[in-house]
Amino acid sequence: MTETRRKRGAPGEKGAFEILRRRFAEPASEEITPKEVFMASKATRRALLGGIGAASVAALMPGEAAAGAKLGAVPSCWSTDERPNSFEDITSYNNFYEFGTGKGDPKRHAARFSPRPWSVEIGGLVERPGTLSLDDILSGVRLEERIYRLRCVEAWSMVVPWVGFPLKTLLDRVGVRSGARHVAFETVYRPEEMPGQRRRILDWPYREGLRLDEAMHPLTILAVGVYDEPLPNQCGAPIRLVVPWKYGFKSIKSIVRITLTDRQPPTTWSSASPREYGYYANVNPEVDHPRWSQATERRIGDGFFARRRPTLMFNGYADQVADLYRGMDLRKFF
Ligand code: MTE
Repeated sequence: MTETRRKRGAPGEKGAFEILRRRFAEPASEEITPKEVFMASKATRRALLGGIGAASVAALMPGEAAAGAKLGAVPSCWSTDERPNSFEDITSYNNFYEFGTGKGDPKRHAARFSPRPWSVEIGGLVERPGTLSLDDILSGVRLEERIYRLRCVEAWSMVVPWVGFPLKTLLDRVGVRSGARHVAFETVYRPEEMPGQRRRILDWPYREGLRLDEAMHPLTILAVGVYDEPLPNQCGAPIRLVVPWKYGFKSIKSIVRITLTDRQPPTTWSSASPREYGYYANVNPEVDHPRWSQATERRIGDGFFARRRPTLMFNGYADQVADLYRGMDLRKFF
């Protein structure tokens, strides 16, 4: 997405280096997680259903997390029945520029990052502004498993079994005031723990935003886990946004600030390159990135000889979200 990518070539280019890199850097998920193991872990997760609320919060505490505590998320009707990528895929192929621009950098450099204790400041046009600890945020919250497709603007995709809850639940709790139109999000700024922030690759801290109706949509979640375990640091611990019908860069990680505003907030990628990255960033196979096509995507874990998959409008969530954009020119509001 940056200069680095420009030099290496746009996604979709198939130079020899790119082919070799794909061949050896991306084993198929089946090669990493044998099917029986995957199915067994799924069964275990189902067996754990019910232990939510206090148990979930306890599972997010550092000691417990290290012991592999399960969050006990309940299944959701919003999940896709597509097969999720392996835990290995999801936690070793990441975009988290705070830890570096390479896909393996976040896993490599995130171990020193400390996601506890954590709090999120919620302010702007809300009835009850304040700073909430992660425990406050999760108290009384029903954690759900949301298996979503994730489509990166770079034209790769995955299927991720997130654990989270609707952002709306939190916004309702703090009370959205009548003038609010957008929600702005900010990632933590800790250059001492995040080596990527010591370089001006982006204008830190990372910022994102959603229109209020997008933020209140039932598909929009705050995620605190993956595969029924607390989020690994490289995935945006301890709390991140997931908006499955938009390009992945909207799904901001390690959130410390949420602000309700009356106008569209500045966001990191659209400020860095407004021609390439819009505020809306809805997945749209008909609107190409200026440097590559968005018509198809490479599913991580599909294997070397697999065909690219067609990209679906709104990443396959058109039935749920197309109404939000009725009457809008999606080429203009990209
Ligand atoms: N959030 C922050 N703070 N920093 C980032 O670099 N990268 C974004 C998004 N959220 C990013 C971020 C991009 S480009 C993508 S595709 C997704 O995170 C990737 O999420 P994943 O690494 O969990 O797959």
